[in-house]
Amino acid sequence: MTEYEDGEARGTLLVIDGHSLAFRAFFALPVESFSTAQGKPTNAVWGFASMLSQVINAERPDHLAIAFDVKGGTFRNTMLPQYKGTRDAAPQDLLDQLPLIQRMLDALGVTYIEKPGYEGDDIIGTLATMGEQARYRTLVLSGDRDAFQLVDDWVTVLYPGYHFKDLKHMTPDEVFAKYHVMPAQYPDLAALRGETADNIPGVPGVGDGYAAKWIGKYGSLEALIEHADDIGGKKGEALRANLDQVRLNRKVNALVRDVDLGVTVEDLTFGQVDVDKLDALFDELEFGARTKNRVLKTFNNEETAKTQAAQPQQDENIVLPNGQRAHDVKELRDWASAHLPAPVRRPDVGELPSGNDEATSGIDHSARCSEAIEHSWVLNACGNAKPGRVSTSSVTLLCAGEALVLQAPLDEDLRDALGGIIDAHASGMVVHGYKEQLHLFSALGLALPYPLFDTELAGYLAQPDFHAESLEQAASHFLDIHADQDEPATQGMLDLGADGDVDSDPDAGKLKHAAIIAALARFLAPKLDMCEQFGLLQTLELPVSRVLQKMEAQGAKVDTQRLKDMRDGFAADARQAQEIAWQWAGREVNLQSPKQLSEVLFEDMGLKPTKRTKKGAYTTNADALQTLYMRSVNDERANGFLGALLRHRETNKLKQIVGTLIETINPFDGRIHTTFEQTVAATGRLSSADPNLQNIPNRNAVGREIRSAFIPGEGYESLVSCDYSQVELRIMAHLSGDEALIEAFRSGVDFHRYVASLVHQVPVDQITADQRTHVKAMSYGLAYGLSSYGLAQQLKINPGEAEALKQKYFSTFGKVRDFLESCVSEARRRGYTETMFGRRRYFPALHSTNRSAREAAERAALNAPIQGSAADIMKVAMIRASRALQEAGLKSRIILQIHDELVVEVVPGEAQQVTELVRNAMETAVRLDVPLDVSTGIGADWQLAAH
Ligand code: CTP
Repeated sequence: MTEYEDGEARGTLLVIDGHSLAFRAFFALPVESFSTAQGKPTNAVWGFASMLSQVINAERPDHLAIAFDVKGGTFRNTMLPQYKGTRDAAPQDLLDQLPLIQRMLDALGVTYIEKPGYEGDDIIGTLATMGEQARYRTLVLSGDRDAFQLVDDWVTVLYPGYHFKDLKHMTPDEVFAKYHVMPAQYPDLAALRGETADNIPGVPGVGDGYAAKWIGKYGSLEALIEHADDIGGKKGEALRANLDQVRLNRKVNALVRDVDLGVTVEDLTFGQVDVDKLDALFDELEFGARTKNRVLKTFNNEETAKTQAAQPQQDENIVLPNGQRAHDVKELRDWASAHLPAPVRRPDVGELPSGNDEATSGIDHSARCSEAIEHSWVLNACGNAKPGRVSTSSVTLLCAGEALVLQAPLDEDLRDALGGIIDAHASGMVVHGYKEQLHLFSALGLALPYPLFDTELAGYLAQPDFHAESLEQAASHFLDIHADQDEPATQGMLDLGADGDVDSDPDAGKLKHAAIIAALARFLAPKLDMCEQFGLLQTLELPVSRVLQKMEAQGAKVDTQRLKDMRDGFAADARQAQEIAWQWAGREVNLQSPKQLSEVLFEDMGLKPTKRTKKGAYTTNADALQTLYMRSVNDERANGFLGALLRHRETNKLKQIVGTLIETINPFDGRIHTTFEQTVAATGRLSSADPNLQNIPNRNAVGREIRSAFIPGEGYESLVSCDYSQVELRIMAHLSGDEALIEAFRSGVDFHRYVASLVHQVPVDQITADQRTHVKAMSYGLAYGLSSYGLAQQLKINPGEAEALKQKYFSTFGKVRDFLESCVSEARRRGYTETMFGRRRYFPALHSTNRSAREAAERAALNAPIQGSAADIMKVAMIRASRALQEAGLKSRIILQIHDELVVEVVPGEAQQVTELVRNAMETAVRLDVPLDVSTGIGADWQLAAH
């Protein structure tokens, strides 16, 4: 507006398209990470607050208004019924958050405006016009390109890029550079081109380029329409055929700029935060103090800033401690006596009572730790904790903001002094990852006593469904230090405030880690108390860490040559299968390429495809190939090709599994040192990584062959394997109390056959192999939370038959059905499931409005108590077995835990005793209403030890 060109702006007005911001926030942040404990999604609110803060901090406006659409159509729908018709209805999870966003804006003292019959865009058009008329530099934040028509010397549109923070400032020059029209001509251009996002068709074949050329030539859309007959060619024809549509488009995309909003720009100040309202809302949404402080920092006035400063929040306390180094014993002792809390006597934690009493009673669910954490200190060794390759670089001690760093290697005196201090103060010691710390300290020649608290295990017990890869991730998750959602690269980075200059101090990284551990402990201790998990931490998880660390350090000996031969064999098989496949195909296709496979199968061979992938191509996944293979029995060429292809896939996969095993053999001792993951599986089960031993196939010939490469090491004679049989089903029988199922276990008859005879009501000896297999799969399917559909797939029967079998099963074992249903309903009521040992798992998604998320949560909740109890039982067994071997003074040692199996490496003469001790430890880990059956075997390799 030229009349203002030389004028001074009176201030900056920021106008925001509220819906577009809420949409963006909703789709940028995963609901799973942003929900309350009750499953209420909060991602859009959190993201909205975060983006709003960002833009305010960047632009520093002094006036602010946010426009929202209201429900119901607008005058645009009356003109153009399909307007915005292709847009998916906003997800309910997002719609539910809009009122919360508005409540937040209320609390923040920000004006938001909605006007029935108008879109947010018209409110924006009006506010922008008011802004420039009142001589405000006016910024319009909108992801809708129609807003470009508002741009002039006073109005700039902030248009978000791929990353939200890359807001493009669309000035007249920018609009021209991009579209070759002036901002006022932009709606003319858009009318010709159409707008897919709004379901507005344009002139076919005409894009921005042509539209701009025409508008440039004729000056405006109106003039162009007048000259429509002068335009030749296909495009001219298309234009003439669509004139009505274009005219309509132009009407629809014009923003109304004079809606009566009943406010003036002067009214649109902000910054009067109602802290109580904000607190109430953020508490309800379970946002942490850091989020609140960040928002307050952006919006607050002086006063709120002061009240905040006077009440430092717990999770704001991550400031670098004062650090110093100790070089000799005196410095270490002086520091310890000046800073560490006085040692407290306590019974040694982490030992299950021995004997045959119920192990569950060994766990004290009333044990609490919050108070003890107040007087705790942090011990943290740094280095490489990978089993078989452990090296330790430093040790940090931290107490009450004072830290001491010891640089490795430690001389003998210093090491002994450190050991003495650790032993004396273990009752108040906090570590992150006891198992890793055990490795790192053992590399220094020190045994690490049980600590008071482990922040890694505690995080897992508090929230088993969240797994932190690193200390930073744990801090970011639990301490509400969210990285900017648009900057994945900085995910997990911590803002330590001005006190932490990590670059200039060589020890700053170590101090930072120790400080985070202290903060995590303060945060997690009350959580564990609240959900009664501290007893499990002390009595189960920490002792299991100790057993696992020993197993990892020992590793399992393998016959390298045998594995190499196996790999070469699989490689040769794979090559041969490839040759055969090529012969059938008549050319050298790349068997790994879905595109090339598609060509061969569906074009050359003319097979009927099964399904399409998300991208629209025909799927060539394992299931599809299997189906095609079965369907093609009468087509020799296709069947030959598919057979060879399947064989190629299988052998190639095995080659890779064996290849990974070979790669991970430690060159110094010829052993494989896997890492047992104690905090990954949400059920409570252990898993293994690097290499993952659980993906060694279980029951087929190849799996057996691979197992045969695991052998006793030097000085050892054999391997003993002890395996729980049907442990999940026994737990299901016990927990449900179903008399018929319990009797099935006590009867001594083959369990699956017995169950099948009850289900089908035929005598045991008339049960067919198929009936047994189906009922067996049904039993496991229930214990694993398998859907009828999943069961049907596994058994290759139709879902109706699977469902019928399930109903028959349930009518035989009614208490099983009741029990499984009660798992879900209890979880819905309490928010969590519980195992026999009190391990909890929370299921916020049970209340999700998203059906598939809810159903997945239901299946998981149904299976969590069974799976989790099986996990607990195995852990108790490991602790007991390990202690039994030790107490008997045996040299044999447990080396592997896989699925429900323990493998022991046995010295000559101990096999019998080992078998008895381990079997007894496993069978008596818990007392169930059915026997816990353990099968055992002894052999010269793992396969021969199998039974
Ligand atoms: N399993 C499964 N689903 C099946 C079959 C087996 O999930 N349909 C899993 C279970 O975890 C089970 C393990 O595989 O514990 C071992 O299977 P298997 O030895 O066949 O189980 P058993 O019940 O001992 O059967 P069987 O009496 O036939 O040996």
